[in-house]
Amino acid sequence: MPYNIENVVRQGLIAAVTLACLKARPPEFYQDVLPILQRHCQECHRSGEMAPMPLITYQDARPWAKAIRDAVRRGEMPPWFADPCCGKFANDRSLTGAEISTLANWAEAGAPAGDQRDAPPPVPWADGWNIAPPDAVFEIPPFHVPASGAIEYQYFAVPTHFQQDRWIQAVEVRPGSRKSVHHAVVYIREPGSTWTSGPTKADILQVYAPGAAPEVWPEGMAKLIPAGSDLVFEIHYTPDGKPEIDSTKIGVIFAKRAPEKRVLTLQMDRSDFAIPPGDPDYQVSVWGTLPNDALLLSLFPHMHLRGKAFEFMRILGDGRPEVMLRVSKYNFFWQLDYKLALPLPLKKGTRLVWTATFDNSANHPLNPDPSKEVRYGHQSWDEMMVGFFDVAVDAGIDKRQFFVR
Ligand code: HEC
Repeated sequence: MPYNIENVVRQGLIAAVTLACLKARPPEFYQDVLPILQRHCQECHRSGEMAPMPLITYQDARPWAKAIRDAVRRGEMPPWFADPCCGKFANDRSLTGAEISTLANWAEAGAPAGDQRDAPPPVPWADGWNIAPPDAVFEIPPFHVPASGAIEYQYFAVPTHFQQDRWIQAVEVRPGSRKSVHHAVVYIREPGSTWTSGPTKADILQVYAPGAAPEVWPEGMAKLIPAGSDLVFEIHYTPDGKPEIDSTKIGVIFAKRAPEKRVLTLQMDRSDFAIPPGDPDYQVSVWGTLPNDALLLSLFPHMHLRGKAFEFMRILGDGRPEVMLRVSKYNFFWQLDYKLALPLPLKKGTRLVWTATFDNSANHPLNPDPSKEVRYGHQSWDEMMVGFFDVAVDAGIDKRQFFVR
């Protein structure tokens, strides 16, 4: 096309008209909204998963358009609580500002469908397991959860019958009764151990809590289940108004080859605190020194109802603190783990400081009783202060050896 002023004007006009159309066209379901739902919502919003309604089809999503707008604007959905100040996480589910606008504008425009031919291909969500079909599955015997009352932690030992050591590449805990399983920790009880309940130094295979994704360790890194081990499920049940039967299970996938690194789940915690009644901002810190070199993989804060914030910090060589994860709006109903986008090498001797903040005032919407002093305990109305962290160490080192300096 010859370059003359008429053409430039015409081109400019066409561009302006196209822009205007783009601006004027409200977001449509198939073209604009569905890709966002696939990326950020469907892992939970589909049948068999934890969310109350599926968001797979237009028919699913249409009645929820305004609720979706409100939930994403308020930052309630998708659940993700890492402060953008610090750290980058591989499992970051948060929406960009543009994605929030798309969902909100779609709702405001009356939730138009658009043309189904614009839809992205459906995500082939697996039925049941979110990991590939497991090589072995271990299930607890059915447990009868009563309709009400406080239930002490329950412990179920399930033998693996493994004749040889097994390296585990991926695991997924699936609760039988999602309503009543509040959280579950699956421990690896090595042969010779007689531990049955309570605190333990046994390695953890997986911590399950609402919002937790299955664990898939990077190539070359795996958890070890030694031959003859049992899996001990520690389950906290919270009755939900009607009796339920739970049979929680864990599926494991074996590593294809022996890994270079062994993954260990470590924790630093405090149980000697007393949170004064009414205190809106009570801090509890725990610190420690890494006994050996390790590659940090993930962080997982755990508190109960009065939890307000949690920070994981390391002290750099020159003494400066660096926050690795700050959860500034902690929400008890979501127990999430935060997987580092890039594993972080930590040197032997690194000082680590975890700080939990509790709000025991009447302003905390979940506080069951601001007039009480609160101490450590298992039940939700007691408190806990635990910072779990996964590290990868040389494959030959077990948890006990890791702590030998
Ligand atoms: C980690 C799992 C998970 C993800 C990811 C998730 N949700 Fe949810 N969602 C839930 C659960 C569980 C509930 C019910 C409990 C609640 O409301 O907190 C829920 C509730 C909702 C509700 C209902 C709120 C109400 O008014 O009752 C809406 C709307 C919603 N989600 C939208 C979304 C959208 C949109 C996305 C993605 C941008 C998303 N969710 C991602 C688990 C999830």
